[in-house]
Amino acid sequence: MAQQRVVVLTGAGISAESGVRTFRDGDGLWEEHRLEDVATPQAWINDPVLVWRFYQARRRQLIEVEPNPAHEALATFADKREHITLITQNVDDLHERAGNTNTIHMHGRLKTLRCEQSGRNEVRMAESDLADDFVVCQCCATPQRLRPDIVWFGEMPMQMEEIYAAVEQADLFIVVGSSGHVYPAAGLVNVAHQAGAKTVLVNLEAPLNADAFDEVHLGKAGELLPGLLEALN
Ligand code: APR
Repeated sequence: MAQQRVVVLTGAGISAESGVRTFRDGDGLWEEHRLEDVATPQAWINDPVLVWRFYQARRRQLIEVEPNPAHEALATFADKREHITLITQNVDDLHERAGNTNTIHMHGRLKTLRCEQSGRNEVRMAESDLADDFVVCQCCATPQRLRPDIVWFGEMPMQMEEIYAAVEQADLFIVVGSSGHVYPAAGLVNVAHQAGAKTVLVNLEAPLNADAFDEVHLGKAGELLPGLLEALN
């Protein structure tokens, strides 16, 4: 079993029990904002102060939240496996803090900020980096205002080659806490299926792409995932 190639894809639902809000709550808003007002390149052009302050609030929240039993169970599971790839759509660092050091963050990370001039990103989490004022880079001759290191709607997710390579070779593909609304992440289950992998979902409610899975477990990730992963070892 330890030889099995496992790929796990997580979404906002895995961090919900840590107190991080998911994107598609009942009101259709993300922390009181429409996604298109804070999570698009156009929003950054139209109202950089709003976008910056929005992400600074999310960055400050990172310090207050803790990994939950689902993150911890995944870290323990990964420790016992030779071939495992953990991909997350989440921009928080809860997988890392639980012990998954090789996590692929396909939608970027809150901890890092990116220079628009050089494209370089750097971890900027000092107290002075978390205020509402813009932060400038340390990499350019003429320091530039940094942007959130987040993949916004309309932008290309990160590390897609690596992601497809892992999913195309998977024997087991597990999705945890994702609504199946956002592509290409929502389509990875089909890639895994075509590759002959068994596909398993753990989610609070049936997501849009629930039919694509061989096994669906409905409930809270923190309650279901530890037992499911334990049974696989
Ligand atoms: N356990 C498991 N699943 C949960 C839990 C929980 N405790 N709480 C909520 N969920 C489920 C919800 O039922 C929902 O289907 O998690 C899913 C979260 O869906 P979204 O909020 O749409 O998050 P996600 O799928 O990760 O969004 C994808 O959209 O806005 C963009 O870039 C952003 O990465 C994000 C992407």
